[in-house]
Amino acid sequence: MKGIILAGGRATRLHPLTLSVSKQLLPVHDKPMIYYPLSVLMLAGVREILLISTPHDLGSFRALLGDGGQLGLDISYAAQEEPRGIAEAFHIGADHIGSDDVALILGDNIFHGPGFGEVLQHNAADVKGCVLFGYRVPDPERYGVAEADAQGRIVTLEEKPTRPRSNLAVTGLYFYDNDVVEIARSIEPSARGELEITDVNLVYAGRGAATLVDLGRGFTWLDTGTHNSLTDASHYMQLMEQRQGIRVACIEEVALNMGYIDAEACHRLGRQLANSDYGQYVMTISA
Ligand code: G1P
Repeated sequence: MKGIILAGGRATRLHPLTLSVSKQLLPVHDKPMIYYPLSVLMLAGVREILLISTPHDLGSFRALLGDGGQLGLDISYAAQEEPRGIAEAFHIGADHIGSDDVALILGDNIFHGPGFGEVLQHNAADVKGCVLFGYRVPDPERYGVAEADAQGRIVTLEEKPTRPRSNLAVTGLYFYDNDVVEIARSIEPSARGELEITDVNLVYAGRGAATLVDLGRGFTWLDTGTHNSLTDASHYMQLMEQRQGIRVACIEEVALNMGYIDAEACHRLGRQLANSDYGQYVMTISA
């Protein structure tokens, strides 16, 4: 399975923070936001990753993550010239996807919960149709909203409905079979001029091939779209990490645990950051 991280957009709701810096590079407590979605793909077992961002920001992502080789990954980069919608990622990423399945994650989505790696790996194996991940929220009208039957098959799906039929938001993590490239080519821009991911998912739902995995109680899905929610996300991570003595989305640790790099390579990455608590942590877990 190939991976795509979409880290574009103008993030105007975060101005002036995002006037010169990509939203997905802003700090969430101790690390850049992009580490969180990157670690999700890594946990799913995905190692060939295309990062899509604006022409202006691509260089900063490249400076941060390079070719991914230090993490046992293969990271490549492509530009989205204008914010023309999430589904454009499959036009831009068609060559990268080739004849494979693909996992798409939005660069500002933060997931945290026990056993998430197993959930990801289970659902990433042999995708038929699409797999979406649902999370119960108090304000579903802000998101894609799904209803599923007892088998988890999606029966209704709406983008930002004024009267949501459920409180199950569709999160920004999507697994697709290879048909997605063709489907993304077949849809038309919405009223707001964007290729909507929900329109892609509706094609799968129409085929009876869209599955919803409910992330369930005890799981955390965080939004970072506003100043308050961004600060809340930092506080959440700070509390988790201080209290539990572990780090969430430490990409060096995930690479080590997944067997992408060995302990020596991990320790070396920690040493490069040795002046920070984060670097010290990486050195400790690989000692
Ligand atoms: C997008 C999708 C929406 C999804 C959300 C998750 O919305 O269109 O279906 O629920 O991401 O973050 P956007 O954040 O682009 O408004």
